[in-house]
Amino acid sequence: MADDKFYTMGKEKILVIGANGQIGSVLTEALRKSFGADMVIASDIRQVEGHDGPFEILNVLDRQGIADMVKRHGITQIYHLAAILSARGEQNPLQTWDINMGGLFNVFEVARESGVSKVFFPSSIAVFGADIPRQMTPQNAVLKPTTVYGMSKAAGELWSQYYFQKYGLDIRSLRYPGVIGWQSNPGGGTTDYAVDIYHYAVRGEDYSCFLSENTFLPMIYMDDAIRATLELMDAPSENIKERTSYNLSGMSFSPSEIAACIQTEMPDFTVSYSPDFRQKIADSWPSSIDDSAARKDWDWQPKFDLKGMTKDMLFQLQKKYSAVV
Ligand code: SER
Repeated sequence: MADDKFYTMGKEKILVIGANGQIGSVLTEALRKSFGADMVIASDIRQVEGHDGPFEILNVLDRQGIADMVKRHGITQIYHLAAILSARGEQNPLQTWDINMGGLFNVFEVARESGVSKVFFPSSIAVFGADIPRQMTPQNAVLKPTTVYGMSKAAGELWSQYYFQKYGLDIRSLRYPGVIGWQSNPGGGTTDYAVDIYHYAVRGEDYSCFLSENTFLPMIYMDDAIRATLELMDAPSENIKERTSYNLSGMSFSPSEIAACIQTEMPDFTVSYSPDFRQKIADSWPSSIDDSAARKDWDWQPKFDLKGMTKDMLFQLQKKYSAVV
């Protein structure tokens, strides 16, 4: 969980769009701890139980609906987390583009017109593709994404910069690597295996991995991902030198490394490998990320490595599963 520190003081009223998602749900809780439960309006396309504060149904494709909500609640900051991820996005490319880009334009336009002061837009390692150094991929590597999701994120980064330069809208963005947490489940991503594998281990089941054993990808523990988001949003505007999106990294590992790490705690756990269409997506992405710009501009520093994350994931999931049995 993010530090219980009060980030930006003052009368911020925050709208989280996509608050039921893997990152959105945990981020909403962290924002509520920092800003107060009633100061954070959670929204998503459908209602789920368990929100500890105001929740409203909102379709990101409904621009008027977003505008009304912003006005009604006096919203000053928007966290826009609704998107179709890399693997699922390939099932219906044009629809993915429409949702990811349509949602983005709706949020940016409403923010610009209503005087919202800050917007968070998540980008991804999926913006990278051919012609990059795979190891320690630099901040300014060429962007040639191969998935519609990656294309929408690369375009979104440029639009973020455009809105900042043209309209002064303070949009901030991170290129999240695979995000791993016990609190919520990802859906439709290529890095999802790294969450699934812990659930199988804790349930005492064998795991069949959809990526090959030596596929290295950049990853980050949820606690670090949330803290990075809050720290980026809290940094003074003049420190934000990257107005497209910041490379962000926590760690990098392969399926066989995460399996071995789990096996040190659970020696009977077994993993087999049967790569599917997601292998090609993973092969187009960096194996590790150079996030020195984030470290320099707003003091980014991850806390969790593979070992620390595995210990916490297994502990938290064991607790979670034993609570429901
Ligand atoms: N976790 C995402 C995915 O796999 C990457 O941003 O699609």
